[in-house]
Amino acid sequence: MKVRTEIETIKRKKGKNINFSEKFLIIIIFYTIDINKIMKIGVVGCGFVGLTFCCLAKFGFEVNFVDKDEEKIRILKKGETPFFEPELENYLNSYLNEKLFFHSDYKKIKDCDMFFICVGTSLDENQNLDLSNVRDAVNSVSEILDQDFKIVVIKSTVPPGTSHELINLMEKNSGKKFKEDFGFCANPEFLKEGSSIKDFLNPDKIVLGVEDEATKMRMLKFYEFIDSDIPRIIVDFKTAEMIKYAQNAFLATKISFINEIANICEKFGVDVEDVSKAIGLDKRIGKEFLKAGIGFGGSCLIKDTKTLMDYSISKNYLPKLLNAVIEINENQPFKIVEYLKDEFKSLNGRKICVLGVTFKPNTSDIRDSRALPILRELIKENAFIKVYDPKGLENVKKIFGDKLVYCKDSYSCLKDCEACLILTDWEEFKSIDYSRVKILIDGRRLLDPKEIKDRKIKFKAIGLGK
Ligand code: UGA
Repeated sequence: MKVRTEIETIKRKKGKNINFSEKFLIIIIFYTIDINKIMKIGVVGCGFVGLTFCCLAKFGFEVNFVDKDEEKIRILKKGETPFFEPELENYLNSYLNEKLFFHSDYKKIKDCDMFFICVGTSLDENQNLDLSNVRDAVNSVSEILDQDFKIVVIKSTVPPGTSHELINLMEKNSGKKFKEDFGFCANPEFLKEGSSIKDFLNPDKIVLGVEDEATKMRMLKFYEFIDSDIPRIIVDFKTAEMIKYAQNAFLATKISFINEIANICEKFGVDVEDVSKAIGLDKRIGKEFLKAGIGFGGSCLIKDTKTLMDYSISKNYLPKLLNAVIEINENQPFKIVEYLKDEFKSLNGRKICVLGVTFKPNTSDIRDSRALPILRELIKENAFIKVYDPKGLENVKKIFGDKLVYCKDSYSCLKDCEACLILTDWEEFKSIDYSRVKILIDGRRLLDPKEIKDRKIKFKAIGLGK
């Protein structure tokens, strides 16, 4: 408020034409007064990214969340989380109504200093990126901007050029001017579901797409709760947006690469795990994301790689590599069905136990899980399917209803089944006694083949090659 008054005084004295030294003075005032107070944070969207902001409470921030999904807000207000994510419920219960507040009405977050837009984007039926949630969120925030200099931060993954488009939208909607009346930052998030809070607090880097000095300084101040050794990458909007796409596309490429190598390894009788361990020791390659399996799922890698492809094509560049990455990923789950068909002439009526439906462990999320195309194929082949997952059953029930038999634990799932498929690498599946299963297929390279000593088990795994 005080900063605003100083700025208004200078503006009134000189009309709207403020010279360079006065601008400098404004910035100095801005930092020295405003920046030292504990910021009040507004978060739009209570999904995986948005709710990680709960952990800011421990640094003294007051965080006000808003979501148009009233049911979600009702659940959160009770101290429950709408999905499973490690550590989240603890933070929620420790700080609810003291530092963490949940609302359905944007007006309730009006007096926040910064607004983080964390709403989801999705692909529509034509596989085009739908940014309507982001536009709606930014429009709603522009309606609650007041006389103070507020900062709007885009955390949602948006293609290069979107920040400029969103600023235009905000200016039109609010009558306010970017840089003078509000700031804007493209601040992509690199956290992984299942470890989102850990990743949020221990990032490898912080990317700040900023095009005005006041926002840059405010963002740097905000991120002081993160170790100062962590690099802060300051770039323009488009570069920040591109960094996020390039990173996810690279991770996707690494996975499809090792899956392609796994498929080749099988032809030569070589175990891909030995290969990936060895090549991962080369520092230029690195060991992460070299786990062969049924491919990458989730709401991000597939969507972002496809979007990057689309946007490249719209600029007349055909991304051949990315196309192959997606194609390999789409085919990879069907290897499991092939393995089964090698064993049984027909899958009709075969009793199959499916362990794991979530797109990865430590989450209840099944979006784009690679288990889904496998389940669809097994249903098409008329198999009798029993399924168990520690966290994902409710979500999978919504898709498949009574086409599957849902089990309360892995042993009841395995009972009387002719084959068992491991489709998610949940830790608890490692210690199961599989000795009663005739055919065991590991789609995630979770089990150590050497430990499957029981000769009666026919063991198959992606890229095992023996
Ligand atoms: C991904 C990125 O890893 C995050 O950095 C990014 O912030 C996030 O997308 C996002 O854009 O929001 P996430 O979708 O949570 O995170 O999941 P990942 O851990 O990347 O796993 C994606 C899929 O790849 C899973 O199905 C996993 O099983 C599979 N995967 C991963 C493999 O098949 N092999 C590997 O070696 C690693």
